[in-house]
Amino acid sequence: MVVAIDGPAGAGKSTVARELARKLGFRYLDTGAMYRAAALAAERAAGRTPAQAAREATIELTDDRVLLNGEDVTELLRRPETAEAASRIATDPELRAVLVEKQRQLLAQGDWVAEGRDVGTVVAPGADVKVFLVADALERARRRAFELGRDVDAVLREQELRDRRDAERPHSPLRAADGAVVIDTTALSIGEVVERIAALVERAR
Ligand code: C5P
Repeated sequence: MVVAIDGPAGAGKSTVARELARKLGFRYLDTGAMYRAAALAAERAAGRTPAQAAREATIELTDDRVLLNGEDVTELLRRPETAEAASRIATDPELRAVLVEKQRQLLAQGDWVAEGRDVGTVVAPGADVKVFLVADALERARRRAFELGRDVDAVLREQELRDRRDAERPHSPLRAADGAVVIDTTALSIGEVVERIAALVERAR
């Protein structure tokens, strides 16, 4: 079974998806972490296109760590400059094809909660449950700023740029998949969002 959770930055995808996976006993796939790892791989592989760098790299995801060619890069991937680089290379169709292929291979076996921007639309359009999380832009920036210990205004400005890139790119733009249930998390707790999605999973079983 695959539960696809998509939405813009800061809508609560990662926390909700991780929590839901634990509750259901499913595995958790953070596709954004793969774009961040690919951005780092591209930065380190001078002269290579992002797609080449991603194809040659080994990206391993465990529950809470990301390994790039065996090196634990979890902390490095949280940096704002890596988020920005990931957002930029995510507009490259060739790079997307490499990562989508890796994601589909993972999702082919077992039960998964997978989160990102295009899981329900491109990676797993046949997902059993599709959810699109949204929230107020300022509330999203507040959550991210709190999480990262940063200034809300700076986070809001970066978020607007990344949102726009995700929504306006010609290839796999961010949008709710056909059949996705849209949940506005602005005024909901993490637990409430998890409960709602868990109820959708029960119904789909
Ligand atoms: O979710 P996260 O902020 O870690 O993702 C980093 C960037 O990767 C996003 O800003 C987005 O542009 C891109 N991304 C994507 N498709 C996905 C996941 C992430 O384009 N499925």
